[in-house]
Amino acid sequence: MSSPLFRSVKTLAAKSAAVRGFCSESLPERKVAILGAAGGIGQPLALLMKLNPRVSRLSLYDIANTPGVAADVSHINTRSEVAGYVGDDQLGQALEGSDVVIIPAGVPRKPGMTRDDLFNINAGIVKSLCTAIAKYCPHAIVNMISNPVNSTVPIAAEVFKKARTYDEKKLFGVTTLDVVRAKTFYAGKANVNIAEVNVPVVGGHAGVTILPLFSQATPKANLPDEDIKALTKRTQDGGTEVVEAKAGKGSATLSMAYAGALFADACLKGLNGVPDVVECSFVQSTVTELPFFASKVRLGQNGVEEVLGLGPLSDYEKEGLEKMKPELKSSIEKGIKFANSN
Ligand code: NAD
Ligand code: LMR
Repeated sequence: MSSPLFRSVKTLAAKSAAVRGFCSESLPERKVAILGAAGGIGQPLALLMKLNPRVSRLSLYDIANTPGVAADVSHINTRSEVAGYVGDDQLGQALEGSDVVIIPAGVPRKPGMTRDDLFNINAGIVKSLCTAIAKYCPHAIVNMISNPVNSTVPIAAEVFKKARTYDEKKLFGVTTLDVVRAKTFYAGKANVNIAEVNVPVVGGHAGVTILPLFSQATPKANLPDEDIKALTKRTQDGGTEVVEAKAGKGSATLSMAYAGALFADACLKGLNGVPDVVECSFVQSTVTELPFFASKVRLGQNGVEEVLGLGPLSDYEKEGLEKMKPELKSSIEKGIKFANSN
C-alpha cells in the first residue's frame, strides 16, 4: 500500500498532466460575452467561463449589477480578463470583438407556468439583444439560453436575416441541460458509471418536444419499457421539477450554468479546431420537415460543421417524434411571426 503522501503526489502529477493535455491545443485569444450575467444563471456561468482556459476576455453584461459580479469574478487567478458592462449604452462595448455570445437574459418560470408563458417578456429582450449582436459582433457564435428556446432561436434568426448577418451555422439553442438530465437519470436507473453515459436528446426544449433517445444510450442497459417511459417523462419534466422545488424562486440556474458552460466550451473547442466535437443543440435543420430541430451537431471552426441525423429510433421514440411536431412547429412560427410583426 502506498502512503497518503505518495498518493497525493501521484494525484497532483495526474492533474498537472491533464492540464498540460488541455493546454497542448493552441489557445488563441477568444472573447466570450454573457448577456444577463448578473442573473441566477449568469453569475455561476460567469464563474465557470472564468475557469475556462480557452477564454481570454470575459465580458459580463446586464441591465444592473454587473460591476459587482465582474469585480468579484475578476479576482480569480485564471487566464481571462473580465469586464462588466451595464445598460444599453454599454452593450456595444460589451459585444464588440466577441467570438461567442451566451444569452441567459430574461425572466424564469414560476410554478404553474409553461416556458411559453415567458414569451411576452423574453421575446422582446432577445430581439433587442440580437439586434445589437447583428450590429456589434455579426460573426459571433450565439448560444441562446433564454426561454422559450423553441421560439427565441427563430426570433434571433429573423433578426439576423433582417440585418443581413444571418449565418445558420452560428446560431444555437442550448439544449445541453436536457442531455445532462437524461444522462444523470439514466445512470441512476441503469446503475452504470455516470461518467461514461451518453444519451442524445432531440427535438426542442419544452415538455414533449424534449425527446431523449434512450434506445441509443450507452453503456447499454436493456431497461424495460416502463423504465424508459418513466425516464423520458422525468427528462421532459426536469425543468418543472426544479421550478416546483424552488417554489417561486425561479428555475434551474446551477445545473443550467454547468450545461451552458459545457456547450460554450464545445463551441470554443470547435473554433480552435479540436476534432470531433459533437453536442446536441437546437439549430436550423433539415433532419425533419421543421426548420429548426435539436439533434447531434458536429462543431467546427465555422460553428455547425454538420447536423447529424437521428439514427435508428424505437417505436416509442418514433411516436414521440410525431407527437412533438405540432407544438414545435407552432412555437417556431410564433417566434418568426413576432420577429416580423414588431
Ligand atoms: P434571472 O431572472 O435570475 O436572471 C435573468 C437576468 O437577465 C437578470 O439579471 C436580468 O437583469 C437580466 N436581463 C433582463 N433583461 C435584460 C436585457 N435586456 N439585457 C440583459 N440582461 C437582461 O433568470 P435565470 O434563472 O438566470 O433565467 C434566465 C433565462 O434562462 C430564463 O428565460 C429561463 O427560462 C432560461 N433558462 C433556460 C434554460 C435552458 O435549458 N435553455 C435552463 C434554465 C433557464
Ligand atoms: C429548464 O429546463 O430547467 C429550463 O428551461 C427552465 C424551465 O423553465 O424549466
